[in-house]
Order: sequence, then C-alpha cells, then structure tokens
Amino acid sequence: MSVNNSTRMKISTKMKKALNDQVGLEADASNSYLAMASWCEVTGYEGAASYFYAQSDEERTHMLKIIHYLNDMGAISVIPAIKSPAVTYKSLENLIKTALKNEQAVTAAIHKMVEIAQKEKDHSTYVFLEWFVNEQVQEETKFETLLQKFDLIGRDKLAINEIDKLLASQATAESEPTA
Ligand SMILES: [Fe+2]
Ligand SMILES: [Fe+2]
Repeated sequence: MSVNNSTRMKISTKMKKALNDQVGLEADASNSYLAMASWCEVTGYEGAASYFYAQSDEERTHMLKIIHYLNDMGAISVIPAIKSPAVTYKSLENLIKTALKNEQAVTAAIHKMVEIAQKEKDHSTYVFLEWFVNEQVQEETKFETLLQKFDLIGRDKLAINEIDKLLASQATAESEPTA
C-alpha cells in the first residue's frame, strides 16, 4: 500500500476520521485502566490490580486492530495524544463505575461508526466493526456484573476482599488472547 496515494483510500474521509478518533478512545481506555491498575496495586487490591493491568493490555489490542485496519484501507492511521487519567479513586466500587462509564462512551462511539458505515454502504468497515459491537456488549456486562457484587456481597472490608479475589480469578482469563 503506497503511503502518499490518497486516491487508493478505500474508506471515506469521514470514516477515516471516526476510526482515528476511535484509536484515541482505545488508547485513552488502555491508559485509564493502567492508572486504575496502579491505584489498585498501591491500595492493596492485588486481584483488581492484575485484572486492570490485563484490561489495559486488552484495550491496546483493540487500538492495534483499528490501526492495522486503517492502514490496510490505505487511510493511514494517525496516532493521537492520550489524556492523563485520574490518579486516585474514592473506592474500588467508584473505580469500576468509572470503568463502566468509559465503556458506555466507547459503545456509543462504535455505534456511531456503524451508522456511518451503513449510510455510506461501507461493507468492509461495517463487518470490521461487528467484532467491536459484540466486544462492547461483553465489556459492559462484565462491569455491570461486578458492580452488582457490591450490592450482593457488601462494601465492608471482608466483602471488598471477596470481590478482589473474584477479580483475581477473572484477571488471567481476560489476558488470554481469544480473538
Ligand atoms: Fe476497547
Ligand atoms: Fe473496553
């Protein structure tokens, strides 16, 4: 694929911009989960720390998927600057609430891209995005289920310890490359 020949671009300029913005969102997510993992680690939530380190890696793989797709389409990805994430959190529950909000924002952005793809009859991008649509359903469910645990198990020290153990048990599964 020639680098400077924009006539060979297989997606619209609008779609290119949306996908590049998504590279930024995935990078922000990766960075934000990294900050969460680090906070968990210093706070003594070892399970949650390994869970969010793995989650950070996962977001990086999402970012790479989009970069490769843009380049394959002759659209040339532009690597964006990343925002500084929050440094501290009120609680583990609050941290997971923030994670869910992030995921909901990412879902909305992906759905917008799907709409652009449909409008533009851009079948390649439509099919490419399908994986992300499914992934977001899983991501949101994951954090919603975790948040439910605080209502079910509790918010005292023992309960948080249980939830931390639960996160530890899920951390290894998360880091397995499944796609
Ligand atoms: Fe992602
Ligand atoms: Fe995610």
